[in-house]
Amino acid sequence: MQLKGSKTEEKLKEAFDRELRAQAYYHYATEAADAAGEDHVADMFSETAQNEAEHARAEFKFLYGSADLKSSLRTAIEREHEDATRLYPEAAKVAEEEGFAEIADFFRRLSNVEARHESHFHDLLEKLDKGEELKGRTVQYSATDMAQLMLPHQANPAGFVHGGEMMKLMDNAAGVVAARHCRANPVTALVEGIEFLSPIRLMDLVIVHGKLTFVSHSSMEVQIMVDVEDLLTGKMRRALTAYFVMVAIDAAGKALEVPPLIVSTEEEERLFNEGQARYEARKAKPKK
Ligand SMILES: [Fe+2]
Ligand SMILES: [Fe+2]
Repeated sequence: MQLKGSKTEEKLKEAFDRELRAQAYYHYATEAADAAGEDHVADMFSETAQNEAEHARAEFKFLYGSADLKSSLRTAIEREHEDATRLYPEAAKVAEEEGFAEIADFFRRLSNVEARHESHFHDLLEKLDKGEELKGRTVQYSATDMAQLMLPHQANPAGFVHGGEMMKLMDNAAGVVAARHCRANPVTALVEGIEFLSPIRLMDLVIVHGKLTFVSHSSMEVQIMVDVEDLLTGKMRRALTAYFVMVAIDAAGKALEVPPLIVSTEEEERLFNEGQARYEARKAKPKK
């Protein structure tokens, strides 16, 4: 039996579409319920979103699971091209004509992001076709979240966690991000812009988020954000932020070349430009 062209295939496509929409809808509803402080409702929306995502995944497997890598890339290129050159430019024009300047601007910016998606997929397909090595890594590839419960040996007698403990956790997370990006041994070269925003107490759950913002020939700048969940109330707060500059070294201590960083979103591009400005400023400083 051939699935392609069958009525079952039609049904699968319809179901896949609905599940995707449901998944996204419940995901956003979760955020809204969270913001309204209704965490029971948020929990149920979030659980259901997960469920719908699983349904969509199973349907995707039936529909497209057997596609080979290159044809998946070609499909991706077509989709992104269509979004970048038709969907969003047309949408921007309509929004502009109807006087929705902000939405028109948003559509135009998305059209640029979709064009970037297209070019990333295009590069990959071209390199695969030529049998060339794939080098660059995305921000997502190395992004890391690490959680730890704060225990008595990490705190002073009044129950506040030592700043040094937090620095160690942040340094560890930055090391994981850098190692994932370059698959080599990273060391910390510099810490910049560390800000202690809120004290951390015993029995707080500390969640350290790390992601790359900028990569030069051999250095990697990792943005670290520390959030704290009060386990008794469920309230989250931001406690610390910093930038760690990591360098990968070989056994002799020599700096290694690291893979380039692929930025996809507007936010990633903004962070990359800011990181690059910090990098240039450091380079311009006279050496001690
Ligand atoms: Fe479902
Ligand atoms: Fe896209």
